[in-house]
Amino acid sequence: MKILITGGAGFMGSTFIKYILKNHPDWQIVNLDKLTYAGNPENLKEVENCQNYEFVKGDIANRGDVEKAIGDGVDKIINYAAETHVDRSILEPDAFIKTDVFGTFTLLEAMRQHNVAQYIQISTDEVYGSIQNGLFTEASPFEPNSPYAASKASGDLLCRAYFKTYNLPIIVTHSCNFYGPNQYPEKLIPLFVTNLLEDKKVPVYGKGNQSREWIFTNDHCRAIELLAEKGQPGEVYNIGTGWCKENMEVTRFILAELGFGEEKIEFVKDRPGHDLRYALNSQKLKNLGWAHSLSWEEGMRRTISWYKENEDRWKKIKSGEYLEYYKRQYAERS
Ligand code: NAD
Ligand code: TYD
Repeated sequence: MKILITGGAGFMGSTFIKYILKNHPDWQIVNLDKLTYAGNPENLKEVENCQNYEFVKGDIANRGDVEKAIGDGVDKIINYAAETHVDRSILEPDAFIKTDVFGTFTLLEAMRQHNVAQYIQISTDEVYGSIQNGLFTEASPFEPNSPYAASKASGDLLCRAYFKTYNLPIIVTHSCNFYGPNQYPEKLIPLFVTNLLEDKKVPVYGKGNQSREWIFTNDHCRAIELLAEKGQPGEVYNIGTGWCKENMEVTRFILAELGFGEEKIEFVKDRPGHDLRYALNSQKLKNLGWAHSLSWEEGMRRTISWYKENEDRWKKIKSGEYLEYYKRQYAERS
């Protein structure tokens, strides 16, 4: 089995590649990644010399790059590649449209030319917008509120159209927020943990009463592995754990684990268009046999420990382009 994984140098893509090479040593992996600020070859150092792993530097929005990665053919395509950070999409949406919309389109067009047995689109619960009470099902309407969510929703709609029109074997997943070791330190959990390890404050947007559902990396890998085996073409699958936490609860947990009090919290201006709550009904995935494997707290402790033990990995990231981004973000918001 040969699989093209796009965006495999990022947080979840690299975690999935390592998971697959460990658990399915007979699968061949080709990783197509543009190596944006979020893509880091160091994430794959331990597998870069594996015989069944190949890296292709390139853009999913460039047909030539996609053809090069497909080569003589692949059995499956799993599309992790995306621009992923909501705050960046508010500052500079262009790259989100190019990658999340046109990039998805380019991959789907390549699917039309090649005999690929399955395509999995890794997408997000943010396409549904915000829900005050209850849970989003796979039939909930798309009501995206950020340029990021709108770009992912657009890519997902193209997937739907390519299934309906061309009968291509496409699956779309809508996952809740990922957390775990090695996430780029711009997202809530790694930003707060690394700030505290640097003895800095943590910037809570607004009142911190927004709620997110969380899934640990390994459990997301297991969900995609299951869908690669049992997912049905044309179907959409929500991927969630039921662990819905307000941002203040997440913040207090991290503070307590690292031995700090609330004096380390800085309440800052809210994110424009900030979604209040995401929560998924994931029964369809559970019906295929998936269940999460550890508690939210255990996942948090493993995550925090990783950042404590791997300062060399994130300290060098928190400079250069990273600082430029924060300067732009705070200049815009103030
Ligand atoms: P990430 O930002 O850590 O990594 C994205 C990767 O995509 C990077 O390696 C980057 O270099 C690559 N990339 C970006 N543009 C590209 C292009 N044009 N061509 C090729 N490669 C390109 O992302 P992540 O947080 O690991 O998310 C992975 C996927 O999961 C995304 O599709 C995202 O929308 C989705 N998702 C993320 C979350 C979350 O909480 N992070 C939740 C649900 C769904
Ligand atoms: P984030 O990790 O950016 O994921 P998403 O917006 O895709 O869910 O943010 C998670 C939540 O944390 C979201 O409600 C915004 C909030 N947040 C803060 O309060 N402060 C921060 O510095 C960041 C990055 C996020």
